[in-house]
Amino acid sequence: MPAITYEHIKTCRQSGARLGKVHTPHGTFETPIFMPVGTLATVKTMDPEELKEINAQIILSNTYHLWLRPGADIVEEAGGLHKFMNWDRPILTDSGGFQVFSLSDLRNITEEGVQFRNHLSGEKLFLSPEKSMHVQNQLGPDIMMAFDECPPYPASHEYMKASVERTSRWAERCLSAHQRPEDQGLFGIVQGGEYKDLRRQSAEDLVSLDFPGYAIGGLSVGEPKDVMNQVLEDTTPFLPQDKPRYLMGVGSADSLIDGAIRGIDMFDCVLPTRIARNGTLMTSSGRLVVRNAKFARDFRPLDENCSCKVCQNYSRAYIRHLIKCNETLGLRLCSYHNLHFLLQLMEDVRQAIREDRLLDFREAFFEAYGFNKK
Ligand code: GUN
Ligand code: ZN
Repeated sequence: MPAITYEHIKTCRQSGARLGKVHTPHGTFETPIFMPVGTLATVKTMDPEELKEINAQIILSNTYHLWLRPGADIVEEAGGLHKFMNWDRPILTDSGGFQVFSLSDLRNITEEGVQFRNHLSGEKLFLSPEKSMHVQNQLGPDIMMAFDECPPYPASHEYMKASVERTSRWAERCLSAHQRPEDQGLFGIVQGGEYKDLRRQSAEDLVSLDFPGYAIGGLSVGEPKDVMNQVLEDTTPFLPQDKPRYLMGVGSADSLIDGAIRGIDMFDCVLPTRIARNGTLMTSSGRLVVRNAKFARDFRPLDENCSCKVCQNYSRAYIRHLIKCNETLGLRLCSYHNLHFLLQLMEDVRQAIREDRLLDFREAFFEAYGFNKK
């Protein structure tokens, strides 16, 4: 048995969205799913018990950050990432490809890999497909990601074609270097920017290498939403039906729904936890900036339609006070609510797929969220 398998349950007759399950060595998660991000082996402010309270089924962590701190050998010595952070459900790690491009300056890309400076110390470092696989084998997540190049948006067709071809060669090197295929699944990452021919080329190259799952990368890098939706439509026809599809770095409520409608199974993003820490909440009627003066005497919950423990017990006025005073409880309550909101949204999406009504759900959600206005 491969480490990762996809079980297709049904396709929504109204929207074409997929309902499924992904089986991993640390149990099963339902798709479409949102994966909370725990970059440094912690989903910021949330302990594993709280993550289970809100039904997080899989979380994501980062090779690049854990390689720098505390170091992959320490995580390995602890018995792997699951034991190190006390999380016994599935974990996916990103390869470091994207982080090298987004966090470090002075990088130099060659066929061998990427040379760059540590964003903390300035020290010179080198990451390659082999190095990323070695580190991810030490960390021990259920799903590892191939080491790819994520070019900036926009990039020329010429640059993007060369980059896609290099990412395909790197993907092959990742497969050869991967030492634990029996208990860790390695996903390939489709690149190609907004170019339809290159997305197809990238997908076909990777599919010929037969990964247990495929990601779509290079999106949510500043392109308009309709470009992202078009890229998904240009890419998914070339991906196999019987493997999971993961849209990397996307976490706004509208994009999760629109991605699911285009056949995406997995999503991750720092957005819900990052905006939570400056007091911005996702609610069923749109974003709410709880710092605003108008909430000083507002004793209603953050979201009157939310069943989370924050909304059952605390008011906007109280949370505004905590956030304005930089109290850590404010960060925790906002993070808890936002993650609950997105995980509940995905449960609602799955239910709508079961009942063949995801387009109706989209229309009602967008109307309430305020996307149809402006
Ligand atoms: N996270 C968001 N986008 C990307 C991408 O294109 N590649 C990788 N490795 N991680 C990402
Ligand atoms: Zn809530």
